[in-house]
Amino acid sequence: MLRFSVRDDRCSRCGLCAADCPSRIIEQRGEELPVVAAENEGNCLECQHCLAICPTAAISVFGLNPADSLPVSADAWPRLEQMTHLLRGRRSVRRYQDRDVDPELIAGLLATVAHAPTGVNNRSLTFTLIDDRGKLARLREKVMAALVEASRTGRIPQRYAYIEGAIAAHVEHGADVLFRGAPHVLIVSAPPHSPCATEDVAIALSYFELLAQSAGLGTVWCGLLKLALESVPALKSLVDLPPDHHYYPMLFGHPAVHFARTVQRDGAARVKRPAVDAPAG
Ligand SMILES: Cc1cc2nc3c(=O)[nH]c(=O)nc-3n(C[C@H](O)[C@H](O)[C@H](O)COP(=O)(O)O)c2cc1C
Repeated sequence: MLRFSVRDDRCSRCGLCAADCPSRIIEQRGEELPVVAAENEGNCLECQHCLAICPTAAISVFGLNPADSLPVSADAWPRLEQMTHLLRGRRSVRRYQDRDVDPELIAGLLATVAHAPTGVNNRSLTFTLIDDRGKLARLREKVMAALVEASRTGRIPQRYAYIEGAIAAHVEHGADVLFRGAPHVLIVSAPPHSPCATEDVAIALSYFELLAQSAGLGTVWCGLLKLALESVPALKSLVDLPPDHHYYPMLFGHPAVHFARTVQRDGAARVKRPAVDAPAG
């Protein structure tokens, strides 16, 4: 149920809600209140742009009160300079303190990450969280044991052979190349039928990474854990991951390392300006 409602005493009939609606289902004629015809409700993307754009907080959808939204003021946002610093200064963290992150902080981060855009506003992501370092230690033990066994019996598929290095480092030196000693892992996953499953997963994790690092936490994308789960698919059940879901893992925790400065990648952006006027093909 859309429950699109407009307060007559507040609506200025500015038409912004109708103009911004991506599905064009809001109609606003002259001095009449904006409406959504019942037969068009099914086309709503549930993006809440109507609630967000209304300058007079006249609109409610899905029973939401616009007063419960954060006010959006560009002054309250980090400036370009601060964002530049964060994006250039964030690093992959591969050394962690042996302590858990406050669950309330994690919950707050994930609540915000749920605001990340998803294709067609599908919002079907699942956040699988191991937020207890004891649990992660047990997972690490099982994953490594399964990998060592799969490697010993030649069951690591050739296309995942890159994982063999991490297995060898574990066997020969007890090195934790896979989990990097992190106390926690977040796996973001999307069901195969979501329109932009892989993109949605990557965007959510990117948001998580930046948000977590702005809160003083360390993060590292963990392609090796994905390789491990793909190499021995039975391991997916340990993290309750449906076999057909798109996913990616990220390790995080309190860092045991401080980077004193940014790296230098200026000039690394390869920019192309294609001549689109040429005939296609
Ligand atoms: C998709 C993806 C997967 C990654 N997987 C791993 C991984 O399994 N283990 C690891 O230590 N780092 C991993 N990284 C981190 C990269 O090695 C790292 O981003 C790169 O070396 C640049 O360093 P920076 O992140 O500190 O700028 C991954 C990064 C990305 C984007």
